[in-house]
Amino acid sequence: MAQSFGNSDSLYDFVVKDGNGVKGLMDLGLSEVPERYIQPEEERIKKIGTRRHNVAPIDLSKLKGPDHKKVVDEIVRAAETLGFFQVVNHGVPFELLESLKDSAHKFFNLSPGEKCLFCPGVSPSSKVKYGTSFVPEKEKALEWKDYISMGYTIDEDALQYWPDQCKEVALDYLKLSSKIVREIIEILIENLGMKLEESRIEAIIEMKMVNMNYHPACPNPELTVGEGRHSDMGTMTVLLQDGIGGLYVKLDEDNNNNDGEWVEIPPIHGALVINIGDIIQIMSNGKYKSAEHRVRTTSNESRVSIPVFTAPKPTEKIGPLEELVKKDGVARYKQLIFQDYINNCFANAYHRKKSLDFAKSSP
Ligand code: OGA
Ligand code: NI
Repeated sequence: MAQSFGNSDSLYDFVVKDGNGVKGLMDLGLSEVPERYIQPEEERIKKIGTRRHNVAPIDLSKLKGPDHKKVVDEIVRAAETLGFFQVVNHGVPFELLESLKDSAHKFFNLSPGEKCLFCPGVSPSSKVKYGTSFVPEKEKALEWKDYISMGYTIDEDALQYWPDQCKEVALDYLKLSSKIVREIIEILIENLGMKLEESRIEAIIEMKMVNMNYHPACPNPELTVGEGRHSDMGTMTVLLQDGIGGLYVKLDEDNNNNDGEWVEIPPIHGALVINIGDIIQIMSNGKYKSAEHRVRTTSNESRVSIPVFTAPKPTEKIGPLEELVKKDGVARYKQLIFQDYINNCFANAYHRKKSLDFAKSSP
């Protein structure tokens, strides 16, 4: 081993503070993962015995034809059960998907110094952040992940402040993904027998962000996680994963009585993964599921994934839709301001699975 870390603090400084990330750690030539990355038994991910969720992807182009109703039903059913589904003919060109994955590799293969131009405090924009793990200062075991996060405000800022290696493709992807999100939200809301004003839909997806996640090849994949269990705290996520696999979703316990089984969402070339976020679960009074999910690491290849997150504007009031509460006779979640929700999620970074509990109405 090229360098040993005398104590956990020096490792932390190297990876987190000095911006070397997990990639920088691996480039030292480690043959085993440092202690700080070893997950407690219950968080480790077993590859063997995990079922793959082999459901055909949904063809979004058919929403415009005679099969409209059938496609709507497929989307609704997926949102009500697993909370995850894959789509094809989604309007994001195949070449763009390929360039996105290439540009993610280009970015993470830069030197630590170049990547750290986007470290918090020095990044030219507070909306652009290169980092590692989720909230490393609060996590006991770190995630085997580096990321670059690009928050969207206006095109000019994206093209000025996002990294050169990926800004154009990331911006195109964000725009096309936002269209998909809007279309699916309209379908889900209409299925509840409701219609939201255009301005309200805009308000619940006003925050948009593209992330690029990088999970370096890992010498001990059975001890680490690429991404720990969590549900996405926003409205809806569109995710591009590469061909390596390792995205696991927990089946809803009250739906299928499979107590806590995890299934893998297999990579499908050209497809995008869609998942329901906490905000849609709250607004739908629990009808649509924001599922827990996590990512396994792999020993021989570095994985990239590229999510577009959409979320309400921070000041937006969120709660179960009123008509739905009347119909259901109960409000399963309380009213909250989205910013308070985010703050709570980050404050409880060690048990991210609890994010939705904050929104539950008291019994
Ligand atoms: C996320 C996430 C899954 C993946 O970034 O929130 O869940 O496959 N990513 O990388
Ligand atoms: Ni996620």
